[in-house]
Amino acid sequence: MPSYENVRYEVDGFIATVTVAREKALNALNRHTLNEIAWALGEADGDARVRCVILTGAGEKAFVAGADISEMVEQGATEARGFARAGRAVGDVLENMAKPVIAAVNGFALGGGCELALACDFIYASDKARFGQPEVNLGVIPGFGGTQRLPRRIGAGRAMELVLTGDLIGADEALRIGLVNKVFPAAELMTEARKCADKIASKGPLAISYARRAVRKGAELSLSAGNDLEAELFALLFATSDQKEGMRAFLAKRSANFEGK
Ligand code: CAA
Repeated sequence: MPSYENVRYEVDGFIATVTVAREKALNALNRHTLNEIAWALGEADGDARVRCVILTGAGEKAFVAGADISEMVEQGATEARGFARAGRAVGDVLENMAKPVIAAVNGFALGGGCELALACDFIYASDKARFGQPEVNLGVIPGFGGTQRLPRRIGAGRAMELVLTGDLIGADEALRIGLVNKVFPAAELMTEARKCADKIASKGPLAISYARRAVRKGAELSLSAGNDLEAELFALLFATSDQKEGMRAFLAKRSANFEGK
């Protein structure tokens, strides 16, 4: 198992928790931290014990306060392109991994932090969370997918307003506009994220993986191509023992024991 400097990776039962842990900089994402997040997510994806992942930030103040401004300040275009690629790589890992990832946003999720949360499957937030894309205050634009994922999540008009004003919004507003799914008192956030992760982990792991793939990949396709993809993934599940187990258990009025096979 690799050892991380700015990330904590823990597995408890079926659930892996990846914590961005660079509290002195409010968990800001420098290149090394981005790489470590990608490695930790890859570790969770390859760990046969793990069925669901929670991604959060260390401390009470921040999920992630953005890309690391002190690392970016003197970058030229070539370095900035590479830095954006490193951020994009984390988003790509999140898009393509076989297991779901819940973002548990415990504080500031700004710039690259908001983008990181958006690349997860859905967001649970503490009532202390604050979201925003404040890059225009720094003379730049979002670089880790915010201009693309934010409008897809909350609609073009609302995304445009956030990206163009750099305004921060609180958890209630984030809930109202559909950026986050649920808001909890700060002390309950991780328990509630864990409850949801446990619920997901109790289902057939291959069904969860294919459902996730159908929704994610389908969003990039026409309705017709998306329905084709869904039908193929649906059919593939009938080649698994989990499908037999799930349906036989229902008919026998007992709970299913899924093995991910
Ligand atoms: N990069 C580097 N360091 C950061 C940081 C960031 N994004 N955010 C916070 N920090 C550091 C601060 O410099 C400070 O360090 P020192 O103690 O060494 O001075 C420490 O974290 C604590 O921060 P503050 O003293 O500023 O804490 P605060 O409570 O007064 O303010 C805050 C909190 C409103 C989040 C404020 O820190 C802030 O505005 N941070 C920057 C937010 C931002 O602009 N994010 C977008 C970055 S650009 C980006 O992400 C581009 C992209 O899409 C790829």
